[in-house]
Parts: sequence; structure tokens; C-alpha cells
Amino acid sequence: MAILMCPPVHFGVEYEINPWMHVAVAVDRKQATRQWTALHDTYQRLGVDIVMANPRPGLPDMVFTANAAVLWDGRAVLSSFQHRERQGEEPHWRSTLELLNFEVHELPRTMSFEGAGDALFVGERLFCGHGFRTDRESHAPVGRALGVETVSLELIDPSFYHLDTCFCPLDSNTVLFASQAFSPASRDMVRRLVPNVIEVPRSVAAGFACNAMPLQDTVVSSPALAQLTAPLRDAGFSPVMLPVDEFMKSGGGVRCLSLPLLTARS
Ligand code: ARG
Repeated sequence: MAILMCPPVHFGVEYEINPWMHVAVAVDRKQATRQWTALHDTYQRLGVDIVMANPRPGLPDMVFTANAAVLWDGRAVLSSFQHRERQGEEPHWRSTLELLNFEVHELPRTMSFEGAGDALFVGERLFCGHGFRTDRESHAPVGRALGVETVSLELIDPSFYHLDTCFCPLDSNTVLFASQAFSPASRDMVRRLVPNVIEVPRSVAAGFACNAMPLQDTVVSSPALAQLTAPLRDAGFSPVMLPVDEFMKSGGGVRCLSLPLLTARS
């Protein structure tokens, strides 16, 4: 198992494109580096290979590798960022993924799609978010490019602007789910399609608990995950918690800093 990460060398809050970001709130880059390194080391300790992307000056959100693309079976659908501030990342993600041997697909510029931040597999089905960053119209072409079925979920709370802030598949039957972030029809859809739904209160999701990385029977996330210890244990998972508050200033947590590469063609 490999995860793509990008060191926070140029990380900062230099613009505001989600409700968590305030340019007036300074990021402590040293502290951010300590938090990122602790996550990196935790992954290594759990047996994950880390693949490093090259950070670029002027692209402070490149640290959030989850937004590079969605990956499946040797293919990648590259992100088409909604905000100009992040569009400069796209050629770097393309070359990074090509170097890793992925067949890279692109969407028309007119469609926004923000990669694994808004597209997560539960088993072989790709659950895709829309409403803030990703356009609903992108879901069908993403599904065609990867040859997978997609399920569209509507996000309604601007604090949970990417799917991975409020929804996290733990295995092919189990998800963490902050249902209040979704339209009523999308809530029903998740409950109908996923056998084991662990409900996450809004306040816990606001601590970025759902922005989690499952690795076998552990789940790595922010300290807010402590509030889910009992339901996680019942589902067979144990939590590993790491502070990520410097990244939360930018609207990101553990999962945003991580792009699992397990589907790369060898
Ligand atoms: N500041 C970044 C943005 O607003 C945060 C991205 C978080 N990534 C994620 N996968 N949720 O684009």
C-alpha cells in the first residue's frame, strides 16, 4: 500500500476558498511541518510506502494531495479545480501521476472536479460529491473514464465542501457519515446502499474526524475521532489520532493530506 504526500514547504493560507480559510489567521509552518511529519511517520509505522510529490512555490494547497485526482486500476482522472488559485496545480499532478505510471484522463475545463476529495470508493462503487467544488455533471464522465458505477451525493453545508470532510469509507460495507452535511435524498441513498453506516455528529465532523485514512483495522484521523471510539470498536476498528490543526486552518485534515496509490498499474 502506498500513499502520495506532498511536504508542507510552501503551505499557507494565502487566499480564502472555503469557510475555514482566513488569510488573517497565520499558519505556523514549523508546527505544520511537525504535524505533517508525524502523519508521514505514522503511515510508515503502519507499513505504508510514502511516495513524495514535489511541492511548488505559489501553490500552498499542493499539500492536499487528495485533490490531485481520483485513481482506479491504473487510471487517473485529473482534477479540474474550480478556483483559479488551485488550477496551477493541475500540470504538476499530471506529471506526478504519469511518472507513477497512471493513464491520466482529463475533463473539459468547464467542468469542475476535485479528485479524491470529492470521489471515494465503497467497494467498487464510486461515491461522488457535488454542490460546492465538484459539478454534478462531472460524475458521469469520471465514471466512464474509470469504468465504474458512480453515485452522486449532494452536499448542502458549506463547512463540508468536499465529500471527504463528511464521508469516509472504512471498508466495503462501512462508512463514517455526517448525514447533516447531505441533502435528504442523498442521506437516504447512503443508508440504502451501505450496510454499516456510522453516524457522525456535526460537531465531531467539524473537528475533521471523518477526514480519515483507514489502514486495515486502524483509522488514522484528527483527535476528534476519540468521540467515535465506541462505534469504531463495534465495527472492528481502532483509532489513531494526530493533531492536524495547522491544516484545519486551510479546511483540511488527515485524509486531505493523503492520496492512496494502491491502484497504480505495476
Ligand atoms: N485549502 C484547500 C482547499 O480549499 C483544502 C483542501 C482540502 N482537501 C480535501 N480533500 N478536503 O481547496
